[in-house]
Amino acid sequence: MFMIAHRGASGHAPENTLASFRLALELGARAVELDIHQSRDGELLVMHDDDFRRVGGRRVKVRALTLAQAQGIDIGSWFSKGFRGERVPTLGEVYDLVDGRAEVHVEIKHGGSVYPGIEARLAAFLERRRAWPRTVVSSFDHRALFAVRALEPRARLGYLLGLTTMGKAWREMEWMRAESLNISLRQASARRVRQARERGLRVLVYTVNTQKELDRLAKLGVDGAFCNYPELNHA
Ligand code: G3P
Ligand code: MG
Repeated sequence: MFMIAHRGASGHAPENTLASFRLALELGARAVELDIHQSRDGELLVMHDDDFRRVGGRRVKVRALTLAQAQGIDIGSWFSKGFRGERVPTLGEVYDLVDGRAEVHVEIKHGGSVYPGIEARLAAFLERRRAWPRTVVSSFDHRALFAVRALEPRARLGYLLGLTTMGKAWREMEWMRAESLNISLRQASARRVRQARERGLRVLVYTVNTQKELDRLAKLGVDGAFCNYPELNHA
């Protein structure tokens, strides 16, 4: 199965940091997943939540901070003392480390309604880096995915299902020409995998952290798994 290091090797290092992506590569990951938000001065920042409460002990929203202010926050110590001083990376910093060594799954946490221009900024970034072929853009915010598709016919899109009903989801995936249906462990069933397969879609499942879960998904015929422990594997 295709293993995607979820927020880097986030079982071993603080999520979405250069340390976690470096470790994922060392552990042999062929793909990494990361989440993006946008700072007040329009930088694409790699982090999961829209504030620094959980990883930096600060309640402040990332969209209210400049890049310099956001990078003043230590986001490693919460995980363990050895990671003290890790900073929120820009998308560019992660690509400098990872690109060419692993496929990158970029999850847009909120589209243009929260972060004006984020889709165009991401598209321009991927264009500059010539990284479209090695990048899959995913989101629970399907309007953001439609916006990326409108900007780039070659974009590879992963449709995060969330609470959307299947009827609507199949239609939207066809319209936007998604390449994968991305679902949670609980949403993964043999029927759903079969239906996706009939429509030419891959199925990627999050977040898979035990061999037992991985074995169940392999039996269902799932294509890939987002995993905090990229050393886990299934032939
Ligand atoms: O893309 C899979 C997974 O990352 C989606 O959920 O909350 O971990 O970003 P979350
Ligand atoms: Mg994510």
